[in-house]
Amino acid sequence: MSSALPADALYDILRGVAALTGDAIVADLARLVGKGAPADLSIAFNHKQIASKRWLVDNVAEVLPEPDGPVWVLGAWHGVLGTMLLADDRLTIPRVVSLDMDPRCAPIAEILNHRHVASGRFRAVTADMMGLDFEQVEGGRPGLVINTSCEHLPDVPGWIAGLPAGLPLLLQSNDYFREPDHRSCVPSLDAFKEQAGLSELWFCGALPSKNYTRFMLIGRR
Ligand SMILES: C[S@@+](CC[C@H](N)C(=O)[O-])C[C@H]1O[C@@H](n2cnc3c(N)ncnc32)[C@H](O)[C@@H]1O
Repeated sequence: MSSALPADALYDILRGVAALTGDAIVADLARLVGKGAPADLSIAFNHKQIASKRWLVDNVAEVLPEPDGPVWVLGAWHGVLGTMLLADDRLTIPRVVSLDMDPRCAPIAEILNHRHVASGRFRAVTADMMGLDFEQVEGGRPGLVINTSCEHLPDVPGWIAGLPAGLPLLLQSNDYFREPDHRSCVPSLDAFKEQAGLSELWFCGALPSKNYTRFMLIGRR
C-alpha cells in the first residue's frame, strides 16, 4: 500500500478544490494548511463538526439574523464557526470575536479568518470565558454570545449566572459523557434547558449523530 498523503499534497488538493468551486472558505483553509495546520484541524473541519455549525448558522439566520452588536464565540477552538458566520449572506454581523483559553487557537483562527482580520470584522482572543465581564468588553455589549463548548465547563449555571441579564445567548452541549474532557454533559434537551435556565427561549433542538446527540438553545439569559 502507498504511504499517507503528505500535507503539501493536501494543500495542492485544497487549492484545486477552491479553484474548482470558487469557495473562499476552501481557499482560506488551503492557505492555513500551506502555513502548517495543527493535527486537530481535521476534527474541527470534519463533517460532524461542520454539520453542527451549519445547524447553528441556519437557526441564527431564522431567529436572530441581525444581532445588535458583535458576536462573541466562546470556546471557539480554531475559529471555524466565525468563518461560517461571516460567510453567510443571510446574516448581518458587524464583527466576530473568537475566544478560547488555549493560546494555540488564536493564531490559527486569525490565519483562517485572515480576510476578516484585514477588514476589522474578526479578532481572536485568548482568555478563560469564566472570568469575562461582558459589561466591560472592548467593542461594547455583544449582540449575541455563542458557546458551543458548554460540555467543557465545570459549572454551566454558575457561568450563565454571571452574564448580563437579557443577553442574547446561543448554547450547545451534548450527551457525550464518555469523553474525558467533558465535565457538564446533559442527558437530554430538557436537562439542558433546566441547566441553562434562560429567561426567553427562541429555539431549542437536538441533532443526533453516531456517538452522541448535540443540543442547542437560543434565547436570552
Ligand atoms: C473541543 S473544542 C470545541 C468543542 C465544541 N463542542 C465545538 O464543537 O465547538 C473545546 C474548546 O473549548 C475551549 N475551552 C474549554 N473551557 C474553556 C474556558 N473556560 N474558556 C475558554 N475556552 C475554553 C478549549 O480550549 C477547546 O478549544
